[in-house]
Amino acid sequence: MVGGSAFAAGGPTRIIFLGSPGAGKGTQAGRLSAERKLVRISTGDMLRQAIAEGTPLGQQAAPIMDRGKLVPDDLLIAMIRERVSREDCQNGYILDGFPRTLPQAHGLENIAGREADDRFFVFNVEVPHAELMRRLSGRRWCPKCQSTYHVDSNPPAKAGVCDRCSTKLVQREDDKESVVAKRLQEYEERTKPLIQYYMHHARFHSIDGFRPADVVFRELVGYLEGQR
Ligand code: AP5
Repeated sequence: MVGGSAFAAGGPTRIIFLGSPGAGKGTQAGRLSAERKLVRISTGDMLRQAIAEGTPLGQQAAPIMDRGKLVPDDLLIAMIRERVSREDCQNGYILDGFPRTLPQAHGLENIAGREADDRFFVFNVEVPHAELMRRLSGRRWCPKCQSTYHVDSNPPAKAGVCDRCSTKLVQREDDKESVVAKRLQEYEERTKPLIQYYMHHARFHSIDGFRPADVVFRELVGYLEGQR
């Protein structure tokens, strides 16, 4: 059950975050997960974990991610199918970074069905291009607990060190300038069409993400609460 909120009553709540790289999907999904006690499933984090552990999936994904390309749909759909079947997802979940292509969206429908449509929310976070570049170039990441910071707008208490686990922060390989350009192109060509797709398939809400994270979060929660 989601922390006392009526939007959780009556079945599992599923929330999808759409938005370009750096739009703030992970930031908002993480906050929502903590406040509403809903599992956050970040496919990017899962893939980076697989790479760190050297699993077959990680070995396959690493060179693709380093080039800023999307990992094949069948791998992602299988990963999500397994993850959402676990006990901790039975009351619902937040998807951060999935689906990212039309075949993935169809895959999700096969996995989760359509019966819970009134509890199925899609947030599309919109941020101007120049701000995306600023956010991605300044992002720092904890390779141990996967917390995210920004050198200017969300710095850790001690420069270069994770607040939560004291690990040295790093820049993600795919946040380097040449790779960012490819990720943004992939988004435009393969993920953006999902906006049209979900406009007609779910409770869809576009959010202006070019505002302080607290303001964006309040709007998001207000939208969910308004759906009682
Ligand atoms: P993934 O890790 O999902 O990366 P992404 O979608 O490119 O998104 P980001 O993590 O870059 O950005 P975000 O929107 O979460 O922003 P964040 O909150 O961190 O995927 C990486 C790769 O994995 C893909 O390229 C692909 O290869 C593969 N992959 C993953 N899923 C896949 C799938 N489904 N199919 C195929 N391949 C897949 O914020 C960014 C920065 O901005 C941070 O520093 C943050 O502190 C700051 N910030 C956030 N909000 C604000 C705000 N309101 N104001 C100011 N600063 C802010």
